[in-house]
Amino acid sequence: MTTSESDLEAARDEAAGLTSRILELRDQYYEGNGSTVSDAEYDAMVRRLDEIEREHPELQKPDSPTQTVGGRAETTQFAPVEHAERMLSLDNVFSFDELAEWAGKVERDAGAERVRFLTELKIDGLAINLRYENGVLVTAATRGDGVVGEDVTGNVLTMGTIPDRLKGEGHPPLVEVRGEIFFPVAEFDALNAAQAAAGERLFANPRNAAAGSLRQKEEGKSPERLALMTKRLRGLRMLVHGIGAWPVPELEASTGVTSQSDIYGLLETWGLPISTHFRVFETVEEVDAFITRYGEQRSSVEHQIDGIVIKVDDLGLHEELGSTSRAPRWATAFKYSPEEVNTKLLDIVVSVGRTGRATPFAVMQKVEVAGSEVRQATLHNQQVVKAKGVLIGDTVVLRKAGDVIPEVLGPVIELRDGTEREFVMPEDCPECGTRLAPAKEGDIDLRCPNAKSCPAQVRGRVEHIASRGSLDIEGLGEVAAAALTQPLEPAEPPLATEAGLFDLTMDDILPIRVVVRDSETGLEKLDGDRPKVMTPFRVSKTREDGSPVPSKRAEVLLENLEKAKTSPLWRILVGLSIRHVGPVAARALADYFGSLDAIRAASRDELAAVDGVGGIIADALLDWFEVDWHREIIDRWTAAGVQFSTPGHPGPGAAEAAGGVLAGLTVVATGSLEGFSREGAQEAILLAGGKAGNSVSKKTDFVAAGPGAGSKLTKAETLGVRIIDAAQFAILVKDGPDALDAPSAGDEAAPI
Ligand code: IVH
Repeated sequence: MTTSESDLEAARDEAAGLTSRILELRDQYYEGNGSTVSDAEYDAMVRRLDEIEREHPELQKPDSPTQTVGGRAETTQFAPVEHAERMLSLDNVFSFDELAEWAGKVERDAGAERVRFLTELKIDGLAINLRYENGVLVTAATRGDGVVGEDVTGNVLTMGTIPDRLKGEGHPPLVEVRGEIFFPVAEFDALNAAQAAAGERLFANPRNAAAGSLRQKEEGKSPERLALMTKRLRGLRMLVHGIGAWPVPELEASTGVTSQSDIYGLLETWGLPISTHFRVFETVEEVDAFITRYGEQRSSVEHQIDGIVIKVDDLGLHEELGSTSRAPRWATAFKYSPEEVNTKLLDIVVSVGRTGRATPFAVMQKVEVAGSEVRQATLHNQQVVKAKGVLIGDTVVLRKAGDVIPEVLGPVIELRDGTEREFVMPEDCPECGTRLAPAKEGDIDLRCPNAKSCPAQVRGRVEHIASRGSLDIEGLGEVAAAALTQPLEPAEPPLATEAGLFDLTMDDILPIRVVVRDSETGLEKLDGDRPKVMTPFRVSKTREDGSPVPSKRAEVLLENLEKAKTSPLWRILVGLSIRHVGPVAARALADYFGSLDAIRAASRDELAAVDGVGGIIADALLDWFEVDWHREIIDRWTAAGVQFSTPGHPGPGAAEAAGGVLAGLTVVATGSLEGFSREGAQEAILLAGGKAGNSVSKKTDFVAAGPGAGSKLTKAETLGVRIIDAAQFAILVKDGPDALDAPSAGDEAAPI
């Protein structure tokens, strides 16, 4: 091969590679899948291909991406379609008061005594306009700017549910049928599962998926991709919600239709898909009730809804009320507080928790979603960040449903301007600089292995000790925990580990200064261009002799640390942050062994045999005691007066051997039981020698249920487990099961 031949070969290879990559990116882009490269990178590829083709004109094919439209700046590849009648939007109301105001105005303007309201769901999809001429579908177009949309007729017909010819007779020369195209939630979930299985990017929500799917192009697709495109289009559905370009007087004269609900009846006879969820009401109060009902059942509807549309039913009144340039006066939308909003992804920050797990989380511009303000959301790990395809600086879709944790769904690719940057998972712990590593081979999550002294982990453990489920120490919240573990001065924090927690004195804590961090993002707050600093344990004024005055927080903290030293053993065990040892296992250990010394002296088998402990927790305990600095915690806490035993406990296994009134019985407490806190009820079962179960099974002997009991109660009913109320529970834990069936003391003492 000569040099020029080999040059040409290399150029051919490069051009072929670039061509297929560019076409693939175009596909991704037009299918709404987002893009894996920036616009700048894409442009550079096209420029390079152009350069090669100029140098070697013989390599330029007529269908080369340099010759075809499809540059990513193009807004459309679809033919423009002018709507016969403008597609209007809807005005919104956000409260029942605003709705009543709108209805009142409608009634006044219409001069009508009583207006009937057609009330239906606002489908979160994509508006579509079907133009039928003499009953034949001529075009299907997206809304576009309301005047001109995009011709997506072929794709709409592929859906398989939109008639290309209307059923029946007497169709007008021209009518526009308007409706919404959407992915039913179930189809959407299946689509995303398929995308994930194929290693493709996930769609952020059904609306984006519907828009992306409808705007797919057949040209240049491989047979496999064509099949996928068809499959996707067949998952789409449409529901119609109105008509255009058929003047009301003509419509009424030729069909006898006089209301919006009549229109739906007519469209149904033509074979068009109608929603089953609409109702006509006489009063606004009934409309309110419909809105409330669907607000509560949003997730049970087959498609996503973003509100309720209220339309005056009478078409004569539509004529009378007319429209503004934007929206009809005869309709309005009641918007539910959005469950999905767009916001800016300001940064992706990695935080290290109590167990050392390094978790990237999204820091966003504050937004309100589903009734609460959201500023951050976990992104779980670096693989999730990649799968979601978000870049720092992106506008992202954020979802929050009720009290569910907020979730970043994905980027809004169209709003990228090229300034976005990729997130890179740090190699080192952002708090202590130790190299991050998976806990075991193959784990995706990365951890900081410096468990003993990584400030983030110590801080997390101190917060955990102070939490409700452990020692419940008032005065030791987030701020105090941060102050104790990460002061600005002196260089060494007062608590290098939690071992010194119960040795703290006023002299130790008074001088502490701490950098103020945003409680949500963990980022340092600034005072001008320097970190903002505060002294949490002393007030700003000093005594006459110049000595510092302790803050209330300092006093409360020391008092409560003192009290915590005599907490029940199980609470202290929880505070040690031993893997898997939460309140349930800790109670089981404390009840059986009665002291930390006895737990430490026990063999693996002895530990594992305790009801509610088992092999995994036994191993975790043995591992924990192996570590020097863990033993140092016990030694220093003991020296400081922490009580690692239950006074009066008869020794390991003694209570079980003696048998309580509930020996051998399992009781599950659920709902609120009068006279017992949640913890108190469990404690009472255990003290009576019984087993406090967490879930109901055939092995459960009793379920004590109070108001608020849910699935556990239902399960008990199904399984035929005996259900008792709070009063019976009190008898059970005091006197045992036999006492339940004896005539109650109350009966005997009842006055005649
Ligand atoms: S009627 C002239 N009814 O919401 C009034 N619109 O935010 C036309 N939408 O552009 C709209 N569900 O695409 C109507 N049941 C429904 C709807 C609905 C969803 C869409 C429609 C409209 C947008 C306005």
